[in-house]
This record gives sequence, C-alpha cells and structure tokens, in this order.
Amino acid sequence: MERGRSIGTSTIIHCDGISKIFKTPEGEKRVIDNIDLKVRENEFVVVFGPGQCGKTTLLNIMSGLEPATSGTVHVDGKLVTGPGPDRGVVYQNLALFPWLTTRGNVEYGPKVRGIDKTERRRRAQYYIDLVGLQGFENAFPVKLSGGMKQRVGIARAYCNEPLVLFMDEPFGSLDAQTRYLMQEELEKIWEKERRTIVFITNNIEEAVYLADRIVLLHNCPTSVKAEYTIDLPRPRDYLDPEFLRLRKLITASMDMTL
Ligand SMILES: Nc1ncnc2c1ncn2[C@@H]1O[C@H](COP(=O)(O)OP(=O)(O)OP(=O)(O)O)[C@@H](O)[C@H]1O
Ligand SMILES: [Mg+2]
Repeated sequence: MERGRSIGTSTIIHCDGISKIFKTPEGEKRVIDNIDLKVRENEFVVVFGPGQCGKTTLLNIMSGLEPATSGTVHVDGKLVTGPGPDRGVVYQNLALFPWLTTRGNVEYGPKVRGIDKTERRRRAQYYIDLVGLQGFENAFPVKLSGGMKQRVGIARAYCNEPLVLFMDEPFGSLDAQTRYLMQEELEKIWEKERRTIVFITNNIEEAVYLADRIVLLHNCPTSVKAEYTIDLPRPRDYLDPEFLRLRKLITASMDMTL
C-alpha cells in the first residue's frame, strides 16, 4: 500500500450481519445484534458506545480473536477466520514483553515472521522514531511511563506493517494530560503513515478529535445506532464551536447507561 495516501474509495473491512451470543452459566447472552459495517482504505473509524455495550467483542471479531455467532468479516476481500499479521491490535493494557527492550518489543513481530535482522532493525528504528521514542531503544518497559509504553505498543503494531490497525481504548488508562498528548501524537502518526484504523473509545472528545467517521453503538445487545462523518480540518481544536457542537450532538444521541 502506498504511504501518505488520502482515504480511498475501496472497502478494506466489511462486517456483514455480525451477531454474537455468549453461552454463560445463566444462559445465552446476546451481545451483538446484526452489525453491518464497512471501513474504507486509510479511513480512521472510531467506534463509540456506552460501557459494556460490546465494543471489545466487536473488535475481537473484526481482528479474528473471537468467532462471530453469525455473520462474516472480510479484510481486503479475505474472510477472517483467526488472527493474522495483516491485522494489528493495540490494547489499553498492552502486554509488552517485560524481558525485551523497546527495540526488542517493536521488532518482535517481524522477527517471528522470519524477516532478516538488518531489515527488521531498519524497520523497527523507523517506527521507534515515528512514535518519538528515539533514545529509548534499549530501555525495558519497567523504565517507561504509561504514555511511552503505549508508544511502544503503537510502534510494535505498525512494525508488522498490517493492512488495518485495531485499537481498543489504547489511552484509557492514561492521565488526562498524557491522553491529550497521545491523541495528538496518534493523529500525527496516522497523517504521516496512513493506515486504516478502527479505534474504540467511550470518550467523546477523543472520538471527535480522531475520527473521519464515528460509529455510535447501542447499548447491549449492541448494533449501529448512528454514524457521523467528521470533516473538521486536522489537527482539530477541542474548543472549536463545531467540535463542541458535534460532541454535544453525539453525546445526546448515546444510550444512557445506569
Ligand atoms: N467471554 C464472555 N463470556 C460471557 N460474556 C461475555 C464474554 N465477553 C464479554 N461478555 C459480556 O459481553 C458484554 C460486552 O462486553 P465487552 O467487553 O465487549 O463490552 P465493552 O463495550 O468493550 O465494555 P467496556 O466499556 O467495559 O470496555 C458484557 O456484558 C460482558 O460481560
Ligand atoms: Mg472494552
């Protein structure tokens, strides 16, 4: 895929009629109810919904970590049947390998895929620089702040050069200031190194700041309640009147959780 390309017209992710029922000791629990979703190449889609509505379950189905009860997911025309290197994932509590340095964590994926040392070093350094971690190549995770660990997680996911990136509340455990900083950083990274991103959050400000399109989910069992195209110029201003209007509009449309 070319770099720095604007949003394409082709569909890269296609969820068709996704439903999920978990079997629990109390009986069957329907969590996702017939979700159709198309994501275009290089698009930044934010999935926004109330707590516990089924966001992570949906993302896990899209990335192949969890099977759907019914429906299909295609990525780049291929049916998703399990995890694969064309789909990168970044979590809130990402499991960095504590015994590996920043570089070791970032180049882990290419290493297990057998990419030779010179190439994976070159690639890892490119993504370490991209996320602003130059100088911390040899640091172990224990020495890094929360924001820096998330940068390692982002670089690690990018280093596999996946077609699409799934991010599940990656900044959810950061303090407010670091969270703003990381939102700005991620936006810059995405502008520079365009990839299709599906990003989950329950923070409306984060959603409006980052999204080309916000997909608002219903409460559990979840389905798509509404979609909003956000065409504010980037980088966005959290205090811009149009930003605030969208923020208010979408919040008002969200199902209330008790
Ligand atoms: N493996 C499972 N077995 C049974 N129920 C599950 C399982 N995984 C998730 N659930 C239930 O499905 C519902 C949705 O969970 P999910 O984690 O997808 O929601 P979420 O929107 O990501 O929540 P949060 O806002 O806390 O991140 C919850 O009620 C949860 O308890
Ligand atoms: Mg979740």
